[in-house]
Amino acid sequence: MNVLGIETSCDETAASVVRDGVSVLSNIISSTVDQHKKYGGIIPEIAARGHLEAIELVVGEAIRKSRISSAKIALVAVASQPGLPGGLLVGRSFARAFSFSLGVPLVEVDHILAHIYAPFLSVNSKQKKPKLPFIGLAVSGGHTSLIYFESFKKFKILGHTRDDAAGEAFDKVAKILGLSYPGGPEIDRLAKGLSNSNLRFKCARLPDTFDFSFSGIKTAVLYFVREKNIKRKSHRLTLGKRLTVEVARAFQNSVVDVLIEKSIAACKKKKVRDLIIGGGVAANSLLRRKLPLASKLAGINSHFAARCFCTDNAAMIAGLGYQMRPKVMS
Ligand code: KG4
Ligand code: ZN
Repeated sequence: MNVLGIETSCDETAASVVRDGVSVLSNIISSTVDQHKKYGGIIPEIAARGHLEAIELVVGEAIRKSRISSAKIALVAVASQPGLPGGLLVGRSFARAFSFSLGVPLVEVDHILAHIYAPFLSVNSKQKKPKLPFIGLAVSGGHTSLIYFESFKKFKILGHTRDDAAGEAFDKVAKILGLSYPGGPEIDRLAKGLSNSNLRFKCARLPDTFDFSFSGIKTAVLYFVREKNIKRKSHRLTLGKRLTVEVARAFQNSVVDVLIEKSIAACKKKKVRDLIIGGGVAANSLLRRKLPLASKLAGINSHFAARCFCTDNAAMIAGLGYQMRPKVMS
């Protein structure tokens, strides 16, 4: 069954055709990120206007690239929440009209659950697929949640962030360091260049809960940078290149450690053997290197989405949409 997925929850206008929930026939992403860079974050109105301008072209391109005719699309899936209301409105309205014009059903899909579905999309057929029940760690720009899945329809949120999301903390710390938006990839890239430093930042642990908190470490970085600049009698918040890299590395180490600790603790508590990590922060090199080692030691199989399916995309929406298809289509 061919499913057309549409995703417009943030700044990416994305469409994809996925067969039977796993084979990605096309995956088109158009982004207005360059227009947001100068503001250091996403401006919802600019993003919504971008979706309006791009959606028809992006969907058309996704169908063309999939090499199937639109008559072969059996279902349309659209990200319905959470996200920026203006963007979601554009995606949902377009998807509703498109499914009506094709005469096929429409399913609305939760964006965060779709991030957890992403490792099921086949990139490498030899890769082991997660087995239910599993724990999902969703780490994106807007959310950080640990979720226990009995199925994609039956799940329980074990914990979530009490303030900033992990990706949001990466973006804000990058901004403090004068790096460009989005900050996650910038910090990731900088931190790779340094193997040793004594600088440490502590990330809150919130013991005995599966909740997270990242605003404290963000503020610690801000105070550190301020203090350095007061000492240098500088009015601008800048650090030298070496110190910027040290701060990026120390911040990333601490956040990654907390994500790993809590995810493994959740697997142990729920006695599950499989852990899925999805969302933009799942693209982080340190997390992708450290978490599999730590989970292996604990007897847990970790599953990351391919990097191209970590950040926002519509293949994950189409894939999860297939699993959510109306009963009559099964
Ligand atoms: O899932 P996503 O594309 O959008 C949301 O649903 O929010 O996640 C975007 C977030 C941004 O905060 C971005 O800085 C972060 O993912 N991100 C990363 C990396 N790549 C993207 N964070 C850390 N390391 C990365 N390599
Ligand atoms: Zn996302």
